[in-house]
Amino acid sequence: MNSRPHETTGPGAALTLRAVSHAYSRTPALREVSLTVRPGEVVAVTGPSGCGKSTLLHVAAGLLVPQAGSAELLGVDLAGLDETARAVLRRRDVGIVLQYGQLVPDMTLEDNVALPLLLEGGELAASRTAARDALVRVGLERAGQAVPEELSGGQAQRAAIARALITSPKVLLADEPVASLDAVAAQDALELMLSVARRDGGAVVLVTHDNLVAAMADREVRLRDGRVDRESVLR
Ligand SMILES: Nc1ncnc2c1ncn2[C@@H]1O[C@H](COP(=O)(O)OP(=O)(O)O)[C@@H](O)[C@H]1O
Ligand SMILES: [Mg+2]
Repeated sequence: MNSRPHETTGPGAALTLRAVSHAYSRTPALREVSLTVRPGEVVAVTGPSGCGKSTLLHVAAGLLVPQAGSAELLGVDLAGLDETARAVLRRRDVGIVLQYGQLVPDMTLEDNVALPLLLEGGELAASRTAARDALVRVGLERAGQAVPEELSGGQAQRAAIARALITSPKVLLADEPVASLDAVAAQDALELMLSVARRDGGAVVLVTHDNLVAAMADREVRLRDGRVDRESVLR
């Protein structure tokens, strides 16, 4: 493993965080974190529980505006957009897999997965067909008519991955996306997510505490107490 400084800015970056700091009431979660992710690159964000990984992902997604520093997604400064514009940017170009509560409870799985297409004006039948195809790719072809409460944690996680990928996002942001999957399902889901970068040239940020998952990335950024502790180029 080779440890060298990585260029911290640059035109054409998919994601740029510059000196991002954030605290929840008095708990500091991020302290001057800078990070650039280029198109086609897979970055693993790792570190112990509570080190700020999820906060970083929420900032990158524009779900949280940090108290200091800036976040640029696909060249757009997120603080310069209002909430609606940030939601539109996310819907169009970003796939997000969060840890909890991401499926709409009273919609079938198929419609949950189709939702990003429907919100972008997709036609119902075509969006549902695309959702069924996406469910096949995550091994949930039989669960399309189930509602989220009927699913196991692992099934819900795979459905969230299918939904995040259905718009062919330019940036995929995933928070512990395979934490509730067994080894085989985790490997399949990871390959699917990595294809966003390896096949389609998008950027992928994987938050994980799992070394095996991190080892599949191009670069690992390790956080500790809200700071970048170590950055390693893996390939
Ligand atoms: N909504 C919140 N309110 C208060 N404190 C929070 C909140 N979310 C996270 N924290 C705190 O911020 C720090 C970083 O949390 P988080 O980003 O969730 O870390 P990780 O994902 O690495 O476990 C922790 O100390 C956590 O307890
Ligand atoms: Mg977390």
